[in-house]
Amino acid sequence: MSALALLGGEKAKSKPFPIWPHYDEAEERALKQVLESRIWWRTPGTKTLEFERAFAKFHGARHGIAVTNGTAALEVAMAGLGIGAGDEVILPDFTFVATASAVLFANALPVLVDVDPGTYCINPDLVEEAITPRTKAVIAVHMGGHPADLDRLKKITDRKKLALIEDSSHAHASEWKGKRIGTFGVAGTFSFQSSKLMTAGEGGIIISNDEKFERQARSVHDCGRMPGEWFYSHFIYGSNYRLSEWQGAVLQAQLGRLDEQTQVRHRNGRLLDRLLGMIPGITPQKLDDRCTRNGQYAYSFHVDRHGSLHRSDERGRHPESGELSASAPAAHVSQWRVSKEAVRKAGERASCIPEAALSGDSESGLGDGLDSAASLAGG
Ligand SMILES: Cc1ncc(COP(=O)(O)O)c(C=O)c1O
Repeated sequence: MSALALLGGEKAKSKPFPIWPHYDEAEERALKQVLESRIWWRTPGTKTLEFERAFAKFHGARHGIAVTNGTAALEVAMAGLGIGAGDEVILPDFTFVATASAVLFANALPVLVDVDPGTYCINPDLVEEAITPRTKAVIAVHMGGHPADLDRLKKITDRKKLALIEDSSHAHASEWKGKRIGTFGVAGTFSFQSSKLMTAGEGGIIISNDEKFERQARSVHDCGRMPGEWFYSHFIYGSNYRLSEWQGAVLQAQLGRLDEQTQVRHRNGRLLDRLLGMIPGITPQKLDDRCTRNGQYAYSFHVDRHGSLHRSDERGRHPESGELSASAPAAHVSQWRVSKEAVRKAGERASCIPEAALSGDSESGLGDGLDSAASLAGG
């Protein structure tokens, strides 16, 4: 390669990346079944119920409560744990706004601590330092699909008798030491919004192995009702967070592909580790040895502005935040800008490749051009 295509050289990549989301006859069939059943809502339906059970089982949980989106999953989890005014919840400063806004929605105080600069996940040492007598819970975010340090977080939260919640919105089917994420604490929450690893356009779920929490959270998500009781009895404060039958049906079909798709993305992630790792100035998100499968919602990496990838133009900048980014804003830090070192570095110098680009086989040419780019950059 003599020059980048951007500068008039030949294109290194000719095949397009796969289109996201994927669907086939399974979704079409499932949607038609719902249509023809005329049962389009959760309460009398079977599709969302089946999906809740299947998704929970897939992640090693006894219970699944499907909800309208991943934000709602966090809000219901807060209410299910009885978190409220005067309570503090510790969470990472590098995440989507919903992880923190769900705590505010419960009238509690989000306490932001910095992330590990290698994995971009919450730093357990800083979690320990942030605990006060008012702390009720810790939310771990599995950033881009990479699990937070669940060994340390579980030890800390067990010792201090705090609830551990896994915000797994990026991490469907990710594994920590061979076990799927989502049940290391009292609850795992997931998003099925359009860009996520499984989707029905919108949607979310909470999984749990804790009977008391499950009972409470299920009631919260269904207007305070209790199973087996009269439909118009409302026992606790709740709202309508129920997922529709259309979405449950689509998600059940999507779940059928999740394991295989995760294997492909994990493999492609390791290919990118190797190829991008050869380019001076690029540091891929660290893969902890204990992460045995990375769902790889996004493939993230640091760009060292002082390295050979220094950019002198504004082309890669997000129009509002000015962050340097290869695609969307690097991660979701814009509303929560704080001066802590690791998140500043991650937010200002990270780029990410969305999961769709990692979801093809080697035929889709994921690494095309990267070895040439490495040599151009002097790697
Ligand atoms: C880490 C994290 N938590 C929660 C959410 C909220 O999910 P939803 O958009 O489905 O409400 C998202 C969505 O992007 C997310 O990235």
